[in-house]
Amino acid sequence: MSHALFTLFSRQTQGGLRERLCSTLRQAIVSGHLRYAEKLPSSRQLARDLSLSRVTVEAAYAQLESEGYLRRHAGRGTFVAIALPPTARPPSSRPGPRFSQRGLQVLATGGCQDPPFPHAFAAGSPDLRAFPHRQWQRLSHQLQRSLGSRVMGYGDPLGYAPLRSAVADYLALSRGMRCTAQQVVVLTSSQQALQLLALLLLDPGDEVWLEEPGYPGARNAFLAAGAHCRAMRLDQQGAVPLQGHARLVYLTPGHHYPSGLPMSPERRLQWLAWARQNSSWLIEDDYDSEFHYDERPAPALQGMEADSRVIALGTFSKTLFPSLRLAWMVVPPSLVEALGRARSVLDGHSALLPQATAAAFLQQGHFASHLRLMRQLYHSRRDCLLAQIHTRLQPWIRPLHAAGGLQLTVELLAGDEAQLTQQASDIGLLLPRLSPLYATPARQSGWMLGFAALTPGEIVTACERLETLLARSVQTRR
Ligand SMILES: Cc1ncc(COP(=O)(O)O)c(C=O)c1O
Repeated sequence: MSHALFTLFSRQTQGGLRERLCSTLRQAIVSGHLRYAEKLPSSRQLARDLSLSRVTVEAAYAQLESEGYLRRHAGRGTFVAIALPPTARPPSSRPGPRFSQRGLQVLATGGCQDPPFPHAFAAGSPDLRAFPHRQWQRLSHQLQRSLGSRVMGYGDPLGYAPLRSAVADYLALSRGMRCTAQQVVVLTSSQQALQLLALLLLDPGDEVWLEEPGYPGARNAFLAAGAHCRAMRLDQQGAVPLQGHARLVYLTPGHHYPSGLPMSPERRLQWLAWARQNSSWLIEDDYDSEFHYDERPAPALQGMEADSRVIALGTFSKTLFPSLRLAWMVVPPSLVEALGRARSVLDGHSALLPQATAAAFLQQGHFASHLRLMRQLYHSRRDCLLAQIHTRLQPWIRPLHAAGGLQLTVELLAGDEAQLTQQASDIGLLLPRLSPLYATPARQSGWMLGFAALTPGEIVTACERLETLLARSVQTRR
């Protein structure tokens, strides 16, 4: 039975170890792998079989007991407490679903993982505790009252007009983009933008070039579309063009993801010329330029040239909150109508009331003040993390470019990244690894340490725990 649990457990990729074990056991019970009154392995045995700590297994058993899945008897062991009705038990020999080739391509990516909140050091989380909830709620209620049925019907697949216009104004002013409201498309997420672009612009086998290391969400969207993804190396100026032809190139010129390196003006001009000569598209993911702490980031690539072949995209997941599900894309006029039609086939449009609320939030100046406050808050937290690294963690990790963003990328100077990440997870620390951001063998190991959602106290505590772990596990020449 431990073998079946091992297989189920290895398929769980979301969440911490305790959560993954809880999901595994729930799944084993509801699918009939574990039957009513069946005895589970002892926590010691299961911990050994799944390479977990006994504390994790004990915690999972205790949680499932409180949820009613398990019953524990002192001295006798742990037993399944739920009896499935006979009809709910799936026949054990039922074949799995048959997926399409496209479906298999999507599944092979492993999916995208979103960060839990707040959790040291989950990457990419804004501080939701500092969000002006009341103000947002007030605006939303006002708009619901004043707009009534106008925000209850179907909407424009390209987005709610006042939001498109507010986003165009904001991007022109703060990012130097050249766009009209008609060129702004409102989507649920950057991920949807990438998926939509892949659907519309790529045939299976088309070449897409991506930065290496780079954002896995982008790679997943293009792989899912059957594209041939090629990795571009970076030098001090940014991504270096490859030989050959690509239909589409994904770039993060503001701050390279994950290193934080800004792309030089010369390299930007080189890419613009390359895209023109090759009739290729450049996707500019402007994912965190709002959060800069030392100097303003260079204006967007999209605005550097009139009629460029740049498609810029960004998200409100970090600047407002992730469950809002609002993002934007600025596209050349020739793509607007096609994107509207393609969006109507996918999911129609984004919900109208949140779009109206976001539009008012931007137009009334709340967005600018919120960003100003968050920039100050995250700046002080970035400084706190840098100071902690300097005093406690220097023998083992070294920060890379730290000028902006919600996380700090650090290089691991000694020790094994995968092993240390696992050990950290056992003590409740989440260390997002750098290696999976490489499609080819990783040239650098390290972590992206999310700091923006953590208070200084939480940062200090997490750094102390990381120091204890590294001092115990890694030999260094101190
Ligand atoms: C480079 C980059 N692009 C896009 C996103 C995600 O945006 P969304 O939540 O809108 O898909 C992230 C999230 O961490 C990111 O790091």
